[in-house]
Amino acid sequence: MSVKSESWGSRVGLILAMAGNAVGLGNFLRFPVQAVQNGGGAFIIPYLVCFLLMGIPLLYIEWASGRFGGKFGNHSTPYILDSMVKGRILKYIGVFGIFTNVAVAAYYCYIESWTMSYVYHSLAGTFEGMSQSGVAGFFDSYVDIAQSTTGIPFEAVIFYILCLLLNTYILSKGLGGIEKVAKIGMPLLILFGMILAIRGLTLGTSGASDLFPDANAWDGLNFLWTPQYSSLLDLKVWMAAAGQIFFTLSVGMGTIHCYAAYMKPKDDIALNAVSAGFMNEFVEVVLGSLIVIPIAAGYLGLDWVIENAGFGMAFQTMPYLFQQWGPLLAALAGLFWFGLLFFAGITSSLAMGTPWMGFMRDEFNWGRNKGAWSFGLLILVMGLPTVLFFKQGVFDEYDYWAGTVSLVVFAMLETILFSWIFGMKKGWAEITSGADIKVPSIYKFIIKFVTPIMLIIIFLGSLFKPLNNDWSGNISSLFSGNGWKLDNGSIIKTITHAGIREKIALATDPAVISQLEENIFYINIARFLLIGLFIFISSLVYIAFQKRRREGRATL
Ligand code: ALA
Repeated sequence: MSVKSESWGSRVGLILAMAGNAVGLGNFLRFPVQAVQNGGGAFIIPYLVCFLLMGIPLLYIEWASGRFGGKFGNHSTPYILDSMVKGRILKYIGVFGIFTNVAVAAYYCYIESWTMSYVYHSLAGTFEGMSQSGVAGFFDSYVDIAQSTTGIPFEAVIFYILCLLLNTYILSKGLGGIEKVAKIGMPLLILFGMILAIRGLTLGTSGASDLFPDANAWDGLNFLWTPQYSSLLDLKVWMAAAGQIFFTLSVGMGTIHCYAAYMKPKDDIALNAVSAGFMNEFVEVVLGSLIVIPIAAGYLGLDWVIENAGFGMAFQTMPYLFQQWGPLLAALAGLFWFGLLFFAGITSSLAMGTPWMGFMRDEFNWGRNKGAWSFGLLILVMGLPTVLFFKQGVFDEYDYWAGTVSLVVFAMLETILFSWIFGMKKGWAEITSGADIKVPSIYKFIIKFVTPIMLIIIFLGSLFKPLNNDWSGNISSLFSGNGWKLDNGSIIKTITHAGIREKIALATDPAVISQLEENIFYINIARFLLIGLFIFISSLVYIAFQKRRREGRATL
């Protein structure tokens, strides 16, 4: 018996689900950190340019590819690509579009589970009376499973499993379940975000204390919104801006293809894609920048923010800052903030489950339940090491390879396939078919030339990132015959653990050395798991291909 095919219930549902896929933890946690670390106003121009020249084109490419593949009953990238281009091995490029989702969901659900726990602790009053270092210490203790003193034994593991169960349950309800969560979660998220953003905007100098007498929320906003044109020449900022655009729009992942594959052949892409994309940008650039930075700057001062910007910053500071508003408002603000993060996270992690489920249904006739629970199990196997060995660097390793490098590689390859092998003529016809708005024809040129060239530069730039990220210095060194010195953060040097090895060579304390060596061990395990996952999915694609051949459905 074949499994019933699915489609979106309504256009609003599709747009909200697509926007929910994009709007995620990246908007509220990653964007402010990237902006602060890359000079505030210096970051915004490259960021917006990357949105227009890479973000929007990739949205068009992925929506169009997905809807095209969907016409042939394909809902995941291996066979979506296979329906677009002939070539036996090209479908294996599509493995990225399943792999990335499983690997990112594994650690992404961990952050999502922090938000669940922090909602609980905000309401339970755990943070009442805690000092700033007490709140920061709470987070450190939370992620240090062996030493955790948060009050609930194995709390991080328990909330992680709860989070996976919730995701899996909703996924087992199919597109209808996802649509429902998006319809409830997105408006609530925007409402919570606006309440907190208004607080951020109106805080001014009222949060300054004796400890930080110069603290001023406006400093944070001015820092972010005073454009600095000099950054246009700084490749480091461009790299960071491009990375943020990929992550925040969820391009190069395979989720957009999958969602679009459930559209009807004549449904609009042109307007839908930009609506979801602009909704994401509104949430990121407006709401995302009006919460953490001004509130933290308003209490702790801008210098503190610049020095301490990091992914955990929102967990290490916000509960303490909310406490300054009194216990009731602190509990409410905690609920709004971590609730907002939870909705942002879950609408994205649900999307990450769909390519796997779509693939297993298309190829092996697996129903929703089997697809969802197998995804949950896969995430558990891949994700538990990120929870148990967070401190040893497993989480960061997944984020680097799956959440950063993979996105760029897949985005680059799919853009070349779309523009040059599928061909821009067919590609443009696909983008504009059923369109409710006129797509500016300049995008034909951008998609064919500008986007692939930018992606190739970014990929090569990450592969060969120069020492200290000093591009101009290294370019002149190269031209003057002194060669190119790789940074420890370049992809090539990362493979060899050059950064950690350098720290080991410089360390004198045997405890530090053994800790670093232990980290290399766990990072290698993380790599082994990631490579294993890639091979596993590739093997499934191969088995599916043999099955298609036997059934006379293979294209080649
Ligand atoms: N696009 C998702 C986010 O921003 C993955 O978090």
